[in-house]
Amino acid sequence: MSNRMNEPQEPAESNRQSTDSVTQTTAGESQEKIQPEWTEYEFQGDPKFSVEDLDVYYGDEQALQGITMEVPENSVTALIGPSGCGKSTFLRCLNRMNDRIKSARVEGSVELDGEEIYQDGINLVELRKRVGMVFQSPNPFPKSIRDNISYGPRKHGELETGLLARLRGTDSTDREQQLVERCLKQAALWEEVSDRLDDNALGLSGGQQQRLCIARCLAVDPDVILMDEPASALDPIATAKIEDLIEELAKEYTVIVVTHSMQQAARISDQTAVFLTGGELVEFDDTDKIFENPESQRVEDYVTGKFG
Ligand SMILES: Nc1ncnc2c1ncn2[C@@H]1O[C@H](COP(=O)(O)OP(=O)(O)O)[C@@H](O)[C@H]1O
Ligand SMILES: [Mg+2]
Repeated sequence: MSNRMNEPQEPAESNRQSTDSVTQTTAGESQEKIQPEWTEYEFQGDPKFSVEDLDVYYGDEQALQGITMEVPENSVTALIGPSGCGKSTFLRCLNRMNDRIKSARVEGSVELDGEEIYQDGINLVELRKRVGMVFQSPNPFPKSIRDNISYGPRKHGELETGLLARLRGTDSTDREQQLVERCLKQAALWEEVSDRLDDNALGLSGGQQQRLCIARCLAVDPDVILMDEPASALDPIATAKIEDLIEELAKEYTVIVVTHSMQQAARISDQTAVFLTGGELVEFDDTDKIFENPESQRVEDYVTGKFG
């Protein structure tokens, strides 16, 4: 305390950082060190996901570095950051979709409801039912609207229709109808398509197709819905519908959404994780805090549009 007066005055704009979080590079710009507490997000209840020390490599290139974070359930978590910072890679770790990419190597731990998903013997079909995914471009099957919904449950043996099933007394045409209606209602699409369930899904508009993909994902009773820039191929009206839907879904499901739109993250999410170049998670906190008063100078520069 007594030698405080001898220390050089810090410029006002770096007040937010302790001095040891900043080192000067030879070029003179400040290179921030990420403080562990910036990503320790505190919330009530159990985490849906606990990610610890997650590293992902594609061949020799590292795409994610030491990601540690806990994701609360029944809420919307937004993942933001500049292109190439590893948002999609991170999302794919949460239901082991990276397993399908030959060059990808994942190290570290991801627990879903306290159970490690990167252990031998995990049933990947079950995992991907529990942790569903919606992609940037709507990708409905070239089948009827109805069949898009019933495809998953049917594949998993949860719906049977047809002669053999009727003979066995397990016909579930009624259950299929109920399922289709429930999922389309949950995805805010029912009113627009209820009179044409047997039409080909590819005849729907882009926004309708995306809501159908969400309905299809709901049909297998997931806990978590991962969305990778779900509205970036849509017009503003279709985008607004998806955004409303995401907020609605979070009452029942854990939604994790990658978006390149900071406005969208600010509108729809409860908490926001900021990834920056190099594949690091820099800060994770309440969305208001991230946008109004982040700890990291780089996060502030990013959310105020100074780069990215
Ligand atoms: N299938 C892949 N094969 C090799 N490199 C990849 C692959 N997918 C992503 N990458 C690389 O990993 C890094 C992170 O990519 P990605 O997760 O797609 O970032 P974001 O979604 O934030 O734009 C980038 O450098 C990207 O080029
Ligand atoms: Mg991406």
